[in-house]
Amino acid sequence: MFVLYKLYFDLSKIIFHLPATFVAFFKQTFSQSLHNMSTIIYNRFDEEVHPPRLSPDYKSTVLRAPTKPLIVVKQSLSESTGPLFGDFNLGPLDHDLTKNSVVNGQPLGERIVVHGRVVNENGQPIPNTLIEIWQANSAGRYVHKVDQHDAPLDPNFLGAGRCMTDKDGNYKFYTIKPGAYPWGNHYNAWRPNHIHFSLFGANITNRLVTQMYFPGDPLLQYDPIFLGVPPKGRDLLISQFDLSVTEPHFALGYRFDFVLRGHNQTPFENS
Ligand SMILES: [Fe+2]
Repeated sequence: MFVLYKLYFDLSKIIFHLPATFVAFFKQTFSQSLHNMSTIIYNRFDEEVHPPRLSPDYKSTVLRAPTKPLIVVKQSLSESTGPLFGDFNLGPLDHDLTKNSVVNGQPLGERIVVHGRVVNENGQPIPNTLIEIWQANSAGRYVHKVDQHDAPLDPNFLGAGRCMTDKDGNYKFYTIKPGAYPWGNHYNAWRPNHIHFSLFGANITNRLVTQMYFPGDPLLQYDPIFLGVPPKGRDLLISQFDLSVTEPHFALGYRFDFVLRGHNQTPFENS
C-alpha cells in the first residue's frame, strides 16, 4: 500500500510539468486503482466447515461464545497487507522438538515428521508464514502449571516449536507423537492425540489457530472439540500418513496442509 502511494506521488512529481489534462488523467487512473484494491472481496469461509462458536457438548464454548449477534467487519486491504515475518530470525532447532529442549538425553516416544503446505484460496503458496506448534508429550502431559494430569513430564521435551514456510509455502517439523490426555469436560473424557497449530499469515493481525489430529484415532468419535467441527470440515483436520517423508530407522511422516481464507479454508478455532 505504501509503495503504491509512493508510486502515485512520485508520478505526480514527474508529471508536474505536463499539461493539466494529463495530470488529471494519471490522478484519476491511480485513484481508481487504489479504490479498486481497497474494495477487494475475498470469499468468506464456509460455515458448514468451521466449528460453531457455541457447541454445548464442548463446555468451554458455553462460557466464551458471544451472546449477541456478531458485527460483520467489512473486508479491506488490511486482510492482505501489514507487517510480515520475512526478516524474522529463527533458531536452527526451533522446528525440531526432538532436539530444541534436550537436557540430558532424547525425548521419549515415537518420533514423527509433520510437514505440509500453506496456500491461499486459489492454491497459491504463502511464503513467510510463521507457524507455531505446541503439544503434550508422549505421555499426554503439557509443560504447564495448569496441567496436573498424573502422567510424567519429560525433561527433554518442551512441546513447543516454530518455523517459517519457504517460498513454496512448505513447512516441516520434527517432534514426538503426543499422547492422549484426560480433560474433565465430561465423565471419562480424553482428548485424541493432537498438535496445536498457530499461523500468522500475510497479516500479523490474522492469527489462525487450529488442531491437527492423526488418522485412525479411536478417540475422535468421542471428542466434543473434534465433533464440534461440522462433518464437512472434520477430514480437513486429520493428517495423512506420508511414507514419502518417513525417515528410515528414525521417524514416521504425516502431512497436514492449510488453506487460509475462502470456501476451502482449513477449520480454525478462532473463525
Ligand atoms: Fe491440547
